[in-house]
Amino acid sequence: MEQQINELRGRAAEAVDAATNLRELDDVRVKFLGKKGELTTLLRGMSKLTAEERPIVGKLVNEARAQIEQIIAEKNSKLKAAELQSKLATETIDVTLPGRRVHDGHLHPLTLTLNRVKEIFVSMGYSVEEGPEVETDYYNFEALNLPKDHPARDMQDSFYITEEILLRTQTSPVQARTMERHRDNEPIRMIAPGRVYRRDDYDASHSPMFTQVEGLVIDKGISFADLKGTLEDFSKKIFGEKTKIRLRPSFFPFTEPSAEVDVSCVMCHGEGCKVCQGTGWLEILGAGMVHPDVLKMSGYDPAEVSGFAFGMGIERIAMLTYGLDDMRLLYDNDVRFLKQF
Ligand code: PHE
Repeated sequence: MEQQINELRGRAAEAVDAATNLRELDDVRVKFLGKKGELTTLLRGMSKLTAEERPIVGKLVNEARAQIEQIIAEKNSKLKAAELQSKLATETIDVTLPGRRVHDGHLHPLTLTLNRVKEIFVSMGYSVEEGPEVETDYYNFEALNLPKDHPARDMQDSFYITEEILLRTQTSPVQARTMERHRDNEPIRMIAPGRVYRRDDYDASHSPMFTQVEGLVIDKGISFADLKGTLEDFSKKIFGEKTKIRLRPSFFPFTEPSAEVDVSCVMCHGEGCKVCQGTGWLEILGAGMVHPDVLKMSGYDPAEVSGFAFGMGIERIAMLTYGLDDMRLLYDNDVRFLKQF
């Protein structure tokens, strides 16, 4: 029996030695120490032994088991270390490679411009009002002094849903809606930002959908000088302190007198260049003193109060502040363009 055990120990040690990977080593463990392994089979044979022999042989078997377990454990850690070494040698990590950035989204240049315009007016004490993009003919035109047969409607040919409902052509209806909500000639100082729609081409400087911000101020004694001062202040804030403004007579059905407002060219500062077509000036908005009939229609008394209004396209402001030469860049959603902001 003792001889058998020693012989088994020897074979086990050789097998462990011969194992070249963890799988082979595990096979050796099962072969010798497993439930149906050689050592277990040997133990079963102990029933044939005498009572004196049993404890001696039992001790030998246990010693053999402990020894085999130990050499397996040693070989196991050797093989693991070797595996790690070969992995380190073959699966090299190039720590000099640049990292992979996760790209965060950010606000669209049009939104950034709109936010800046809002910020400027809010800092002057204006409230921000909103209204529906699908509007009635009454608020879009009639309440703004454009009765059904008015020729000025042609300038803003629109998308009609029915005879009486259309996509708004301007944010001015929000002014009429806001005036109606007030009573007793209560002062108003508001802007109305939002999308507007007109039947138009889609080219470098036109789009059938664009973003407008209109402003309205109503109070006792509001004058044209207030309008001019406000627009000058706004222009300096958005285009820079050196910016000058110029007003040219114009016509809008809802303001009288009316003006087109130019700013000194943001590129050449008035010298004359390609962007301003040599004039030194860029047109940025329409404005005027609110027509008495418009005040009356929305419940204000033109004998008591007066007001001014203005309206501008945000795309144009964005193009000028960012130096864009094509408005379509703002709608194409080309990431190569957008990621520059
Ligand atoms: N609503 C005008 C437009 O869209 C702009 C404007 C607003 C002009 C307010 C004067 C006063 O063309």
